[in-house]
Amino acid sequence: MAHKLPMNLFIKKPIDQIIATCDEGEHKLKKTLGPVSLIALGIGAIIGAGLFSLTGIAAAENAGSAVVISFMIAALGCAFAGMCYSELASMIPVAGSAYTYTYATMGEFIAWIIGWDLVLEYAVASAVVAVSWSRYVLSFLGDFGIYIPARFAACPYDVIKMPDGTEVHGIINIPAIIIIFLISTLLMIGIKESARVNSIIVVVKLIVVVTFIAIGLHYIKPANYVPFIPPNTGVFGEFGWSGIMRAAGVVFFAYIGFDTVSTAAQESRNPQKDIPIGILGSLVICTVLYLAFSLVLTGMVNYKDMMGDAAPVATAINLTPYPWLQAMVKLGIIGGFTSVILVLLLGQSRVFYSMSRDGLLPKIFSEIHPKWKTPWRSNIIFMFFISIFAGFFPISKLGHMTSIGTLLAFIIVCAGVLVLRFTQPNAPRPFKTPCVPLFPILGIMVCLAMMMSLGVETWVRLVIWLMIGFVIYFAYSRFHSKLHLQGKRSN
Ligand code: ALA
Repeated sequence: MAHKLPMNLFIKKPIDQIIATCDEGEHKLKKTLGPVSLIALGIGAIIGAGLFSLTGIAAAENAGSAVVISFMIAALGCAFAGMCYSELASMIPVAGSAYTYTYATMGEFIAWIIGWDLVLEYAVASAVVAVSWSRYVLSFLGDFGIYIPARFAACPYDVIKMPDGTEVHGIINIPAIIIIFLISTLLMIGIKESARVNSIIVVVKLIVVVTFIAIGLHYIKPANYVPFIPPNTGVFGEFGWSGIMRAAGVVFFAYIGFDTVSTAAQESRNPQKDIPIGILGSLVICTVLYLAFSLVLTGMVNYKDMMGDAAPVATAINLTPYPWLQAMVKLGIIGGFTSVILVLLLGQSRVFYSMSRDGLLPKIFSEIHPKWKTPWRSNIIFMFFISIFAGFFPISKLGHMTSIGTLLAFIIVCAGVLVLRFTQPNAPRPFKTPCVPLFPILGIMVCLAMMMSLGVETWVRLVIWLMIGFVIYFAYSRFHSKLHLQGKRSN
């Protein structure tokens, strides 16, 4: 029996225990969300910097107009992973995440890896969105004649063109740090993303995207699509098919967030049925919009002109004669990014809260403020950690880190479905991934292909990140794991 081994790395948390723990005390949440709210939650977390910033970067650096093919490939990987998420979420309908599912299916060590890896998905992603937010804020303020010194809104890796034509490096991205501070503070004092506020932001985001597509259609220059797949430059990942694959790894970022629907399982009226609808519904809607959006954007602005432009939508709108559109779209984007950061930071604190309650992380991450009832110390720690990323690192490197980390999490979730079908074939599965084992295997392959395309540098960073995680696990977590301690006591 796994529980009897004192240091079993693959000790599993029983599903009934997970569900029982989640029904305790402050975890009791009102069950108010139906399928439409869950789809809105998904879209609220999905549409953000990936679409409005990375599309331009991926087109300029990797794929040209063929970035639309990259969006299709990334959607395919997400669809397979989304089905696997849906199956696990319907089996274990608690406010967990991939971390909780993995603890139940593949044991503690893999759960640790995924929990640690999710920092890349949630914390580092929020830094990416914050950097992108700062670009759009700058562009928006610029429309009103308000200018922030460029060197204080860019990281040291960014090269900025000064008015006299000289080029200098940025110093620090202060607006990105400010938004992280503001949202962390909101989370700390307990402003929760209510479903209604989220739905309003989602409607605004959808209006922005649809308006951009509808108006932008009239400003497409067919010459910008030629050649549709720019020839490879001789370097892997720079245009051609390898570029399309690398761009898929980059724009994959734009789909991240659908898994946060699963964290709302306990607030859902009928999680077994509605969580899969929320996950897959939000994915389908976003995919359709993304394909149309990327076609219009690269039709309006030549991909070569988007090099180094983290606010390509603003550039595209500058080509239209509608000043009101500029203000509206930029404001909608800024608001939309704010909600993405909020949801991601909330997701981050939920994962570390669960890990800390399981004893895998110090108690500080699950200490609840007596008045605010939030894990405030955890929020403060992440506020500083994420600010460093947002203030000093370039958006593309951070985006790659998030993509590779999340892809790894998706692979583990797909593998989790295969493992559970084998180890617990008769467990009730209100939602079943079709064509098992084919779909989970395809999910693993497509996600792995996107990981492979992300370049050696990103892999090295992932490996270093995981190494740091292993050190923490073997030096701290396994000695404090509640399951291990329980096991020891019962021996
Ligand atoms: N998918 C989210 C975004 O693009 C993280 O901002």
